[in-house]
Amino acid sequence: MEQLMRNFFLFLSKNKMLTKLAKKYGLRFGAARFVAGETIKLAVDAIKGLNQKNLSVTIDYLGEFVDNEAEANEMADNSIEAIKAIGREKLDSQLSLKMTSMGLDISDEVVLRNMRRILEAAKENGVFVTIDMEDYSRCQKTLDIFKQLKSEYDNIGTVIQAYLYRTVQDMEDLNHYNPNLRLVKGAYKESPEVAFPDKKDVDNNFKKIIKMHLLNGNYTAVATHDDAMIEYTIEVVKEHGIPKDQFEFQMLYGIRPERQEELVKEGYKMRVYVPYGNDWYGYFMRRLAERPANVAFVLKGILKK
Ligand code: FDA
Repeated sequence: MEQLMRNFFLFLSKNKMLTKLAKKYGLRFGAARFVAGETIKLAVDAIKGLNQKNLSVTIDYLGEFVDNEAEANEMADNSIEAIKAIGREKLDSQLSLKMTSMGLDISDEVVLRNMRRILEAAKENGVFVTIDMEDYSRCQKTLDIFKQLKSEYDNIGTVIQAYLYRTVQDMEDLNHYNPNLRLVKGAYKESPEVAFPDKKDVDNNFKKIIKMHLLNGNYTAVATHDDAMIEYTIEVVKEHGIPKDQFEFQMLYGIRPERQEELVKEGYKMRVYVPYGNDWYGYFMRRLAERPANVAFVLKGILKK
């Protein structure tokens, strides 16, 4: 049943008509629990509130799968606006983005031009940029562009997904760059030809890459809401004397906020991924796919109205 629901919401996440409708009608159906708001101003307010609780942030102007150049340029402009707001307001925040919103599906020229614009603005404002990892069909291209940009800029990292079979090999290749990586389980619907279908295998691979990246001496962001993975990370860092400034935990805005604060109180760095903007639909559907309890929460919200 859980698998069926997951597939259903991941299928809905790609629906172009619903994406357009969602943009038009604003944050609905409980999406406001997972999205800070539609404007940069609301996002800045949310970040200030989190920073006051000693939570660091990575902000994401929502958008994905853009297929025309003007829109990709506008998406990049919005990310630059977010970077400037971080600098101006002295926020403890990084930036995250999806390269399909910067023109990855249009051409190398468009995506590289937009990425360099963003990275220049980020360098000026002392902001670190993480390239989110999208579906499998974009994985190789994302890594190729990451490697190219990493040789030009220091303030860039990317994401590795534990559910892919290729992941350990990718980590070995990337190790030459001593990258700052966010490690996640993986959020897209992938075929069993490329990704572990069984959650147990995903969890085991997740543990494997957490240990591998930490022991290679690289900065490691463990992005999960799963206590078993958090506890495993704490075990590894204690056993191997990994310093606290070599790793951090990350969680999504609106998910397990009490646990986020608890980890800060225990002395760990915790970064919250704060999405904002009107293109919230695909992001929201992936959150529903991850957890049946999130669907129950949304249904309760709708029934109350
Ligand atoms: P999972 O969903 O497997 O849940 C495991 C356990 O965690 C649950 O059984 C429960 O115990 C606990 N749990 C989870 N949610 C809970 C809740 N709401 N309340 C209480 N307990 C809860 N993916 C991707 O493909 N590309 C990317 O770039 C990113 N980026 C990213 C950034 C950040 C900061 C995060 C946190 C995640 C991502 N992801 C991602 C998403 C990621 O791949 C994954 O889909 C989700 O994090 C869900 O997996 P979890 O590891 O959280 O555990």
